[in-house]
Amino acid sequence: MNITLSTLNKRKAEGQKFSCLTAYDSTFANIVSSAGVEVILVGDSLGMVLQGKDSTVPVTMEEMIYHTTCVSRGNQGSLIMADMPFMSCATEEQTFENAAKLMRAGGHLVKVEGGSWFTGTISKLTERGIPVCVHLGLTPQSVNKFGGYKVQGRDDASRAALLQDSIDAEKAGAAILLYECIPSELMEEVMSNVSIPVIGIGAGPASDAQVLVLHDMLGATPGKVAKFVHNFMPDGDGTIQGAVAAYHQAVKDGNFPKPEHGFA
Ligand code: KIV
Repeated sequence: MNITLSTLNKRKAEGQKFSCLTAYDSTFANIVSSAGVEVILVGDSLGMVLQGKDSTVPVTMEEMIYHTTCVSRGNQGSLIMADMPFMSCATEEQTFENAAKLMRAGGHLVKVEGGSWFTGTISKLTERGIPVCVHLGLTPQSVNKFGGYKVQGRDDASRAALLQDSIDAEKAGAAILLYECIPSELMEEVMSNVSIPVIGIGAGPASDAQVLVLHDMLGATPGKVAKFVHNFMPDGDGTIQGAVAAYHQAVKDGNFPKPEHGFA
């Protein structure tokens, strides 16, 4: 069965959770989609995970197109969400051209790191047939502005701004909202203010879906991993396929993330 945005909306309406994982190539796209993971994110995290860079900032449009094409060849029916990389949305015209390139490469929707300031473009992309996921909270392309990978929405002003961004993005026609590294309580507040599917990472258990970076959940990431990461290799049958299946099941059952994976 091919997963579409209607599938995700139906899951939400029925109170069923869904899962999302990153993949950057054909083989892993095949494994992830065959396990039933509803959404594959071709994330610009590939800059760190595949290329060993220290942020997502250097990732180019050409690289995103290449990896989206690879993922689309191996995909077995998941919804492919492709990241718009750093400065690929600098002007509206550039945004249209770049989003179209990702769709032609096999993406089913694009993900942008944006907020209320981006709502005009969200509406126009949506009107032109390109669904948009809006990434809020810790938006890694702004790491230099934030001064590090820090939990967002901890003070009253940023909390209010994030809520407003969420409401504005939905009003503008966003198909999905994705929150990274915000307090679990703020995620709960967002959930009672929006009605489109919501994906979380480091945002507690309240969202409709969870996403992790594939290499993190396979325990393959060297060094210290973030608090919200769980290694699913020991939870499966010892294979990568087993770990991905264990992740998908845990998210579906509401067993991942647990409160201790979130931020107070
Ligand atoms: O690029 C990526 O993998 C992401 C996730 C961490 C949400 O944006």
